[in-house]
Amino acid sequence: MKALVLSGGKGTRLRPLTFTCAKQLIPVANKPVLGYVLDQVAATKIKKVGIITAHETGHFVEEYVADGSAWNMEASYIPQEPLGLAHAVKTARKFLGQDSFVMCLGDNVTGQGLESFVKRFKNEHLDALIILKEVDNPSAFGIAKLDDEGNIIRLVEKPKTSIGSKLAIIGTYLFSNKVHEAIERIKPSWRGELEITDAIQEMINMGFTVKAEILRSWWLDTGKKDDILSANAKILDEYIEADVKGKVVNSTIDGRVQVAPDSQIINSTVRGPCVIGKDVVVENSFIGPYTSIGNGSRVCNSNIEYCVVQECVTITDIERLEDSLIGKNAKVSRNQRCRTIKLHVGDYSELQV
Ligand code: DAU
Repeated sequence: MKALVLSGGKGTRLRPLTFTCAKQLIPVANKPVLGYVLDQVAATKIKKVGIITAHETGHFVEEYVADGSAWNMEASYIPQEPLGLAHAVKTARKFLGQDSFVMCLGDNVTGQGLESFVKRFKNEHLDALIILKEVDNPSAFGIAKLDDEGNIIRLVEKPKTSIGSKLAIIGTYLFSNKVHEAIERIKPSWRGELEITDAIQEMINMGFTVKAEILRSWWLDTGKKDDILSANAKILDEYIEADVKGKVVNSTIDGRVQVAPDSQIINSTVRGPCVIGKDVVVENSFIGPYTSIGNGSRVCNSNIEYCVVQECVTITDIERLEDSLIGKNAKVSRNQRCRTIKLHVGDYSELQV
């Protein structure tokens, strides 16, 4: 069995960060989302992973995953035009060969590993196993309708009107090589994409063995800013243990806080769960729960809570910064002399002042 991890796409909803970074590399708890996905693939003992990349951001992904040895896997890169999830499978046809495979979206994280799904897929000799989770906003996802026995009767990508189900396809799929026959028969959807949802529907129509399973844990699609903040909070909540390696001077550290080596917390309070990367200086400040501060950042005379601050950011004299996602090398400061707001922000930035 192989793995196919989708790390392409356009990332338009996360601009401007995605002008200089693949969306799958945006960090939560100071680690790229893609890293969590690859951890879960590696835990299944699959050794060959194909990574779909976009032409604009593929080099960032290749730099991060390299040859895959950090996950004890062999990584291959498959550049693709973002023409849909089934198009990605089609583009990866040569890499996949005749093998069955697990397919994951590089920007979706769950609290449940893949091992039990792989086991069931193999034991029951399935052609497809798709993982579902109930959502409040079905029009934003691929939706599956099940019968009373839990068999899939219908699948619709982002239904505009209710199909009588709120079970979303979460972006974890297991396929036998039969999926390629189905993909050959489908046409692009109204949004111009070759949809994997249509391919799965086609597999059902063709009489292949397609099953669904409901995810027991949480699931987050980190496609937008607020989702990244939620994923950051969730990961900090579930995985962060107290571990203070940096220097703490005249400061209070409360709860589960990680401070990496070579960082300094001076005259400040840090309240967990929160993670502070390497070579960070926090001075005369309050860092509140659910915050991640990336390597090389400086926070001075400021109060921050529920934020993702990426690498080498400078935050100075900010009375209260909340619910914010700050990109690499950004500088945020207060203009002390007048009440005018002075900005130097990239295209597609969003500011609430
Ligand atoms: O998040 C779950 C949803 O993901 C499912 O419910 C939908 O059925 C499925 O179509 C997908 O919908 P999205 O519209 O959210 O997909 P998105 O365009 O965000 O792409 C998901 C991931 O796949 C993302 O990491 C980018 C990557 N991708 C996407 C496309 C369209 C590719 O690598 N190649 C592509 O052509």
